Amino acid sequence: MSPSRVEPGIQPSGQPGPRLSLFDAVNIALGSIIGAGIFVILGAAAAVAGPALILSVLIAAVVSLLTGLSTAELSRLYPRSGGVYVFARETLSDSLGFLVGWVWLFSNVVSGATVAVGFGHYLKYFFPALPTAVGIVVVAASTVMIHLAGAKESSRFNNVLVLFKIAVLLFFSVAAFLHFQGPNLRPFLPFGFRGVWAGAATIFFAYAGFARVAIVADEIEDPRKNVPRATLLSIFISTLIYVLVAVAAVGGAGSRLLAGSGSPLADAIASMGLGFGARLVALGGLAATGTVALASVLGISRLAQVMSREGELPAFVGRSSGRRSVPRNAVLISGAAMLILAFLADLPHIAYISSFSLLLYYAALNVSGLKVLKGRMRIVTGLGFLSCLVLMANLPVRSWIVGAAVVASGALYYAWANAKRPRSSH
Ligand code: ALA
Repeated sequence: MSPSRVEPGIQPSGQPGPRLSLFDAVNIALGSIIGAGIFVILGAAAAVAGPALILSVLIAAVVSLLTGLSTAELSRLYPRSGGVYVFARETLSDSLGFLVGWVWLFSNVVSGATVAVGFGHYLKYFFPALPTAVGIVVVAASTVMIHLAGAKESSRFNNVLVLFKIAVLLFFSVAAFLHFQGPNLRPFLPFGFRGVWAGAATIFFAYAGFARVAIVADEIEDPRKNVPRATLLSIFISTLIYVLVAVAAVGGAGSRLLAGSGSPLADAIASMGLGFGARLVALGGLAATGTVALASVLGISRLAQVMSREGELPAFVGRSSGRRSVPRNAVLISGAAMLILAFLADLPHIAYISSFSLLLYYAALNVSGLKVLKGRMRIVTGLGFLSCLVLMANLPVRSWIVGAAVVASGALYYAWANAKRPRSSH
């Protein structure tokens, strides 16, 4: 492997690019985080946890915070594009770095596909006769086109959508709290603590995305400071919103209604007799799944570009073009991969697979932390590692099998690519 390290402030393409502020960076993270998890997968979590879904949301937040703290520290030490991939290369080995990057790319293609399906479901809310497939194609095609327009334009668009989806979730919370009924919380633990853990592993999908800013660190102003800040701020903001929404949704509509729905928040509001509110929430669902799709393609294309510059993926993947050095091929390939997977998707199983693979690279990230972090941060990162394993243990066996297949395919590709590479004679 040829370690052509990229300097901070220079895009992976090797050219100076537009710089995004702390506000933009927090919005990139929130754009990646708040999506199908809270708008769609909340229903699947309610099915396994009942009203104790509220505890599941809190447990998933703690796991995210532990790994988020490690991410923040590691991005302070290695403030350049590539995130988990760079951390693993720097602290473990090139081959493990490649595997972590491979799993990251897979996980994000799957979560992009999951939100594309979520977008299809919410679009049906307005056009019931429309096949979900149309929504999937609309979101994938528009995501690719927005990215081809350049980083700054997509960031402005993302900021507007993020503010809108947060406003919708706050509206949802207020409206549902006004219809709060104590009996909806009873019995609180219908499936015991096993259900709570299964719910935490399910809803963990909703927190995925906080490490995205580290992936695009070169595009952020003063990345050593702003990447860690944006990572932690995004976890705090999403935790606050999720807890609020979970309490309001369970108290206002009951976990049974949520469990049986593909668009649980819109159906919850509709059950309170607020037709206009339900349409507004469905619009928020479209914005939320749309922004996560945007963030997925942004992250996948940029990491693929970094890995291609490192010689670990074919060179054409990382080639950039245009005034804003957009990695066109990487954007097109990630959009197409997302689209294909979305057509094969089966919610919530695809979300389980995405969560498993993301917990896998978060666990690897914590191992990187254990190698270089000192003092109290070692305890945090050790707990982060264990908490990822506990949640993985609560995911269905199918996600373990797919996870193992992804790691094995990455290892085979790496061995094949290395065998083809000409050896230098010393
Ligand atoms: N956290 C992202 C979502 O909920 C993946 O859609």
